[in-house]
Amino acid sequence: MFSRCFLCSALLIFAFPVLLRLWRATIFNQDASHTLPHIQTAIAKCMSLEQKPRPPLDFWKRSRSDRYEAGTRPVLIKHGRIWTGRNNGTQVVYGDILMEKGIIKSVGNLDWLDLTGFGSELQVVDADGAWITPGLVDAHSHIGDFSLPILEGSNDGDSLNGIAQPWLRSLDGLNTHDETYPLTLAGGVTTALVLPGSAVAIGGQGFVIKLRETSEKSSSSMLVEPPYHINNTYPDPNLPFRWRHMKHACGENPSKSFQGTRMDTIWAFREAYAKAQKIKDEQDQFCRDVLSGNRQLGQFPEELQWEALVDVLRGRVKVHTHCYEAVDIDDFVRLTNEFKFPVAAFHHASEAYLVPDILKRAYGEAPAIALYATVARFKREAYRSSEFAPKVLAQHGITVLMKSDHPAAWDSRRLIYEAQLGYFYGLPYNLAIASVISNAAEVLGMGHRLGYIREGWDADIVVWDSHPLALGATPTQVYVDGLPQLQGSIKVKKPANFQKLPKVPKFDQEAAETVRHDGLPPLEPRKKVFGTTVFTNVKNLYWPETHGVQRQIIAQDDAELGVVVVQNGSIVCKGGHRACFVESLLTDQGVAVINLDGGSVSPGLVSYGSNLGLEEITLESSTTDGLAPDPLLQPVPKILGGDFLLLRAADGLQFGTRHALLAYRSGVTSAVVAPTHQAFIGGLGVFFSLGALNKMENNAVIQGMAGLHVSLGHFSTPSVSSQIATLRRLLLGPNTGSIGAYFHKVKQGLIPLVVEAHSADIIATLLLLKSEYETEEGRNLRLTITGATEAHFLAKELADAGVGVILTPLKPLPVSWEKRRIMPGPPITKETTLSILLKHGVVVGIGSEGAWSVRNLPFELAWAAIEAGGKISKEEALSMGGINIEKLLGLVRESATIDLVATKGGDLLDFGAEVVAIISPTEKSVNLLRDI
Ligand SMILES: *[C@@H]1O[C@H](CO)[C@@H](O)[C@H](O)[C@H]1NC(C)=O
Ligand SMILES: *[C@@H]1O[C@H](CO)[C@@H](O)[C@H](O)[C@H]1NC(C)=O
Ligand SMILES: *[C@@H]1O[C@H](CO)[C@@H](O)[C@H](O)[C@H]1NC(C)=O
Repeated sequence: MFSRCFLCSALLIFAFPVLLRLWRATIFNQDASHTLPHIQTAIAKCMSLEQKPRPPLDFWKRSRSDRYEAGTRPVLIKHGRIWTGRNNGTQVVYGDILMEKGIIKSVGNLDWLDLTGFGSELQVVDADGAWITPGLVDAHSHIGDFSLPILEGSNDGDSLNGIAQPWLRSLDGLNTHDETYPLTLAGGVTTALVLPGSAVAIGGQGFVIKLRETSEKSSSSMLVEPPYHINNTYPDPNLPFRWRHMKHACGENPSKSFQGTRMDTIWAFREAYAKAQKIKDEQDQFCRDVLSGNRQLGQFPEELQWEALVDVLRGRVKVHTHCYEAVDIDDFVRLTNEFKFPVAAFHHASEAYLVPDILKRAYGEAPAIALYATVARFKREAYRSSEFAPKVLAQHGITVLMKSDHPAAWDSRRLIYEAQLGYFYGLPYNLAIASVISNAAEVLGMGHRLGYIREGWDADIVVWDSHPLALGATPTQVYVDGLPQLQGSIKVKKPANFQKLPKVPKFDQEAAETVRHDGLPPLEPRKKVFGTTVFTNVKNLYWPETHGVQRQIIAQDDAELGVVVVQNGSIVCKGGHRACFVESLLTDQGVAVINLDGGSVSPGLVSYGSNLGLEEITLESSTTDGLAPDPLLQPVPKILGGDFLLLRAADGLQFGTRHALLAYRSGVTSAVVAPTHQAFIGGLGVFFSLGALNKMENNAVIQGMAGLHVSLGHFSTPSVSSQIATLRRLLLGPNTGSIGAYFHKVKQGLIPLVVEAHSADIIATLLLLKSEYETEEGRNLRLTITGATEAHFLAKELADAGVGVILTPLKPLPVSWEKRRIMPGPPITKETTLSILLKHGVVVGIGSEGAWSVRNLPFELAWAAIEAGGKISKEEALSMGGINIEKLLGLVRESATIDLVATKGGDLLDFGAEVVAIISPTEKSVNLLRDI
């Protein structure tokens, strides 16, 4: 698709100077000697209006990059497996890359190169067969504009001063001290389009930046090929134009900001574009007058506030529109045809996959769609999001980008993870890699210098420790403009098969069904088998012992894998065919036979940390349980029990939510949730089944008392010290009201006190409070810390105090001040918070933050194991996502009552495995998730 476009723009490029010369000649010949200076300026302006954005003709002949930093050493990377971005993302070259002066000088087998000219300047790196890609390009970021950690001074992404403000520029708020620049670089992301937020219809202009620190240390020096408008210097009419970017937003966000409706937002667009159209028409008339020799001209008609929108109408701006639902996409496509401008990409666009024909009707080419992989259902607009959207859109020939929206929904350091998830759910591998590299660069109008490893392109290169689509892929080195960004000494040891493109399940049927059901396919199990089920070709059985998950190898040998026979939801035999009398069972009509194809059976995972079970759509209050009252914020009504009330999450449970069923289908079969709270007081947690459809089902509520939960943190009110004082009083003071009754149980050791805390200072205070309590009361306090972003500072103290930790989330991000001292892990630090806690013997569980993310828990656990480079076994990782969480929340149950998950083609923690059935001892059934 792009090569075709290249041809047409090349034609224009060659035709254009000829046209200009002709035009100039016409005008000057008429009355050359009398051309007044202001007329000459006008002529120059008029000529420049016709310029389309494109690279200069001699761009690839440049000998150095405009971003070259003096002192950058030339680098020769030898023996790479180079994904070049070419041939639709399928070309891989085994060879070398020479970089000099910020650009790629040569790619291929460079043994013939005479390197003597470089002298000792040249750095030669042996990649030893490692995968190499161009730097990743994040097509939707707010890095620098919503900088982290979030502070009151850090919102520079959304201005609420007007519903249509095309004159605002993300560049003007770009903070050079965002702590996530180096973190994002460590994920291989070298370039980002920084867009204004989506609070208003026209949020302003976006800018493409590279994330490395520059020697100038300015925001402007981070820009890639900035349009001339950043300083409003009028371009030399002979210079080609540079792409500009404009953020638009429809749907819920602008409606909320302006207490309006979708109707108001679309009107705001039409009003703004009508204004821009009028100015454009006046300019065109003015230029026709200039051309026809009219000398009685006034000023060139223009308005600084609207010039960027006029440029949209001139096809010189990449329009990025935040739109979720079909109605929004339809509205916007109508707008593009009314005012005749193309859209570069619809972002988020959760329903785009349901309406490909609307996309194809957009003015100009069909826009690209920039998506999340699994972030979904957090508001009405996102309710029909599907993990299969990238696959479906690609089938319709639509360009798919995966993007972060950093830091709003996804950490841009994990952009490659989005591509991996896109690939897992069916986006072809070449398009999955291209979605965060070459296709993203093309959509940003930067394909002539970014997104490819080719001679003459920018020297932005990532060397990976595995295939980039293998889960956990981590850069070992990242070059930006030829400058290495990592120390390069930290490399995780990975098995050899991680160098290959991972095998993933086929989801053709699921994707088709999702489209057929307009985004809401039924998620309940296909069938429940109550009699006998035989699982064949089983490699491993992971069994939940009280001290942790144990692996039982039940394969006789590679030739004959084992069987697991289940009756009424319980395993009655496991091992060889003969031992389990399988031959006789297989001939029985009533027996279900499921071939696991070398897969395994393992304990269902347990989710903790999100509001899963108390909400369906986070931002729709009518779908959630709501917020628990907190006496530290305002008095609790007397009828509720007054300030000494304690809520039970069990009372607010909702069953069968889409989050719950999707988690269940991924092997997360139960969850613990605490009452949703804003500040200090949480309440009593509940342990419940994610497969149950209502509370009255047998075992829907597994345990009604799953820890007493409070949160300690730097919320604006009340102070941290008053939160601690409250906790001290509740522990050491008299037992009053229902809160006193449950704290009494904590004091008796019947339930653990579960405290969410992130800052090392607060965790230390908690440990001291624990020992104060223990000294005073003479007995042990069961305490578990959750969140625990900075827990690595206190690993030894936590271990000594016997306090376990539920890390939520596993992958840290310095979102707020109290979470800023993260242990980032490879490739920045060798250790992670997890590895340090484990080294000291702390019992660790792994939690999830958003209800939508619980389905990813198997991937997160697998990631933890991969990142540990062999130090964490699958059994340990499975324990951290199950039995450890139960232990840390004071839950006890018989192993034989725990749901088991049957996976095909691999273990639950293998990227390519497919969850096919849940074995439920309490339901006495095997629940089939797919048609077998
Ligand atoms: C690019 O690859 C995709 C997926 O493999 C394929 O469907 C598409 O036709 C290819 N496009 C071109 C132009 O080859
Ligand atoms: C204005 O910006 C352009 C584009 O970055 C740059 O080339 C030019 O030098 C700048 N001019 C001034 C006067 O700063
Ligand atoms: C399974 O349930 C059936 C019907 O309730 C019962 O007859 C049978 O004995 C059970 N089998 C086992 C192994 O528990």
